[in-house]
Amino acid sequence: MMKAAFGNRFHFGVAISAAQNEGAILDDGRSASIWDNFVRRGGVIRKGGKTSPACDFYHRYKDDLLLVKALGFNSFRFSISWSRLLPDGTGKPNPAGLQFYNDLIDECLQLGITPFVTLYHWDLPANLQREGGWESPLINRWFRHFTKICARAFGDRVKHWIVLNEPAGFTSLGYMLGKHAPGKRSLEGFLKAVHHAAIAQGDGGRTLRQHVDKAVIGTTFSCSEIRPHTDKTEDIAAAARIDLFMNRLFIEPLLGKGFPEDDRGLVQKLNKQNLSWKYTDRMQFDMDFIGLQNYFPLTVKHNAFIPLINASEVKPAARKVPQTAMGWEINPSAFHRIIKRFWKYGGIKEIMITENGACFKDQLSQGRIADNERIRYFEDHLQEVLKLKKEGVRISGYFAWTLTDNFEWAEGYEARFGIVHVDFKTQLRTVKDSGYWWRDLLAG
Ligand code: GAL
Repeated sequence: MMKAAFGNRFHFGVAISAAQNEGAILDDGRSASIWDNFVRRGGVIRKGGKTSPACDFYHRYKDDLLLVKALGFNSFRFSISWSRLLPDGTGKPNPAGLQFYNDLIDECLQLGITPFVTLYHWDLPANLQREGGWESPLINRWFRHFTKICARAFGDRVKHWIVLNEPAGFTSLGYMLGKHAPGKRSLEGFLKAVHHAAIAQGDGGRTLRQHVDKAVIGTTFSCSEIRPHTDKTEDIAAAARIDLFMNRLFIEPLLGKGFPEDDRGLVQKLNKQNLSWKYTDRMQFDMDFIGLQNYFPLTVKHNAFIPLINASEVKPAARKVPQTAMGWEINPSAFHRIIKRFWKYGGIKEIMITENGACFKDQLSQGRIADNERIRYFEDHLQEVLKLKKEGVRISGYFAWTLTDNFEWAEGYEARFGIVHVDFKTQLRTVKDSGYWWRDLLAG
């Protein structure tokens, strides 16, 4: 594979996030985030992993950026910790928080790396959660304020912005399934969070447009091809319901299509509980790019025991197809199809693959990690990006997830996605073979 085939304006990037990398949760006036509190509950994170020290990126960002540079990436995606920047959640910024992100941005620019800033990557300040978090309509005011502070502070140098990271992820895992912070399990809470996150997407876009000259504004969505296990009508209907929640729920209102209402069965069930979707024009915004993040496709079947959705996954192991260490199916052509399908919505100016990657059981042996499966994963998915480009899909970037092994949410430190290995006891970094593979690719 040749780098040149992607075109010379292509963003080859690597992505991280504040809650997963920064650590230093008590430093310099930062307040607690919902994740700092959530991890203290017993039994929610594998092997009891905590949000600190993570990769200690707060203190080691210069070294980590040197790695980004040395491996040849031209773009770097990171997120802003809301509780580091605005410890009260609202009000005035924390000078140390401003300083940290200013330094990080300046360091990127000095190295010739384009910063891509994500405003919200799942780490709400805990004090805003006490007032209802994403379930409260106040979140939209808080989020506009946070966005404005970021835009004004960093917008002179940061041009590439991402409003939300995967709203489907934090609303469903955090408010309905209880697996992520804030650990709630309520259909009503989930639907409120969905509603407010969809508004935040539009509000975030408009606020950035107003305050940042020449901004390139996007937001990210997770996407997964959903296939019925058999061609029985009930499995096909189950797949359509999962598709609605995982793929359609957030992008359709953003594109001005409203909430998907064509699955009458599901909508009727929601209406029975007086929880019909509430669409407003504020959810719509003309993004400069749509960030798509794909890790796996899903195969699903009808399952009457699962409330509301009446569907469950048929795992890759049961189907004997390749999978990662997290049990996620590896299927590059399904990646191709789902990206193509989003493109076919129309009205999307550009797509960037803002995350893609895989976790495997890496073995550190004599200072080396021969992670051939990860190399293969990247190579196969990049090939599909090239094919999509040839078919006319405008894809202007690809960000590998992730730079260093980091705090992988409910999986704690047990799931490693990095192209650089981290020894979490010593913080020693070791570039994996996949990192060297990227270096060779990007050196052209
Ligand atoms: C995404 C998320 C990332 C990362 C990745 C791998 O959904 O945005 O933060 O954890 O999954 O699980």
